[in-house]
Amino acid sequence: MKQKKILSIILTLILVSVIFSGCFRGRPSDDPPVHLNPNMDEQPKYEAQEKSEFFADGSAMRNPVTGTVARGRLHDGDAWFKGTDRNGMPVHKSLLPINMQNLKRGQERYNIYCAPCHSRLGDGKGIMLKRGYVPPTSFHTDRIRQLPDGEIFNVITNGIRNMPSYAGQIPVSDRWAIVNYVRALQRSQDATIEDVPVEMREKIK
Ligand code: HEC
Repeated sequence: MKQKKILSIILTLILVSVIFSGCFRGRPSDDPPVHLNPNMDEQPKYEAQEKSEFFADGSAMRNPVTGTVARGRLHDGDAWFKGTDRNGMPVHKSLLPINMQNLKRGQERYNIYCAPCHSRLGDGKGIMLKRGYVPPTSFHTDRIRQLPDGEIFNVITNGIRNMPSYAGQIPVSDRWAIVNYVRALQRSQDATIEDVPVEMREKIK
């Protein structure tokens, strides 16, 4: 008899808890949720995007002081970072030394990023032309030969007319390496026998 009573109490409790858990789920409440073991979950601190009564603009997040430069982001020197001189004109010569290592790098980057349009020779007859792209400029005309280095750097950085910018893909030092390589390409297609060392001229003739 006693056992039956206990059993019916337990059953009633289970029934009540099932009913109640069903009834209150999803109901909005102003009370904080029951949090049995708070540990250090609640701390007196500001979180990102939180509002603040302390600062006049009502925001807990602070802006960096004007003129702040992130580490490694100091772009000191327009000649290197923009290809321009003090008056904002394109620099005549690239600051990247011309040596075999830099030329090889320039060649590699040129063949990746420029050759699809301008071709490996720089005559503007890259594969994209066959796919219906607007004809790219040939580098082997007097106008492009006479462009200052800084202007070619500027074209890579900002694009020009139908050519898109490559600033996102090509870091500054590689842009200069490409500029130097374009100069080498131009010489390679515009050379005379006088450019060849005397002892090698016979072989070429
Ligand atoms: C998606 C094709 C494409 C790629 C890739 C491309 N170019 Fe061009 N480029 C063009 C086109 C098209 C023009 C002609 C733009 C015009 O006059 O409308 C051009 C023009 C130029 C000019 C002549 C600018 C002038 O003063 O007329 C230079 C220099 C040049 N590109 C250099 C480069 C270099 C260096 C690269 C590689 C970093 C490169 N281009 C990559 C399509 C491309």
